[in-house]
Amino acid sequence: MATHDFLSFVLVAISFTVLAFASDQNPLQDFCVADPTIQVLMNGLPCKDPKTVEANDFSFGGLHQSGNTSNPLGSAVTPVTVYEIPGLNTLGISLVRVDYARGGVNPPHTHPRASEILTVLEGSLEVGFVTSSPENRRITKVLHKGDVFVFPIGLVHYQKNVGPGNAVAIAALSSQNPGVIIIAEAVFGSVPEMCDDVLMKSFQLDEGAVGYLKSKF
Ligand SMILES: *[C@@H]1O[C@H](CO)[C@@H](O)[C@H](O)[C@H]1NC(C)=O
Repeated sequence: MATHDFLSFVLVAISFTVLAFASDQNPLQDFCVADPTIQVLMNGLPCKDPKTVEANDFSFGGLHQSGNTSNPLGSAVTPVTVYEIPGLNTLGISLVRVDYARGGVNPPHTHPRASEILTVLEGSLEVGFVTSSPENRRITKVLHKGDVFVFPIGLVHYQKNVGPGNAVAIAALSSQNPGVIIIAEAVFGSVPEMCDDVLMKSFQLDEGAVGYLKSKF
């Protein structure tokens, strides 16, 4: 094997290893409770003095309250990430509560930094995710109370309430700050906006349809 071939092989192997283990870094101390007052730009958030850490730094109240689903989607996400619990900093986990009105949808979105494991607490949900190109296979299932489903990191996924009443789910995510990219909002609602020509060609739409979608997002 020529040297440059070997080097390319090593680089490809390393990039696959990084992909396979993509998640938040392991902590190097018991905890690193985030201190939002420290103005340092770093990966994660700076720690406050461990001597001043208290139980409330690891706690959040209010997840018994349902989110307000009076919106066009009929769903509401209540996040419990490092921004709600500073003690989650460096720990690589977080949580959301999702409420769904009758027929409500949590629209297609991805989490750039986390896999997700969702438990249905009330009602019935159709859930699904789509594998990456070129296959784009949709993997879907109807879940009922107590059922659990996994959305792998980075893949586009959604949930729809298919039951006769409200639905509630709790989902855990493998990042202190999973991030969310809602496809429709990112594409048709970016600031500054994407030019019409890009959107017309990408989605095979005419100018009127692009204008309509931009006005919605
Ligand atoms: C829920 O959201 C709607 C629309 O924004 C608002 O009109 C309504 O007052 C909210 N309800 C509650 C209980 O906050």
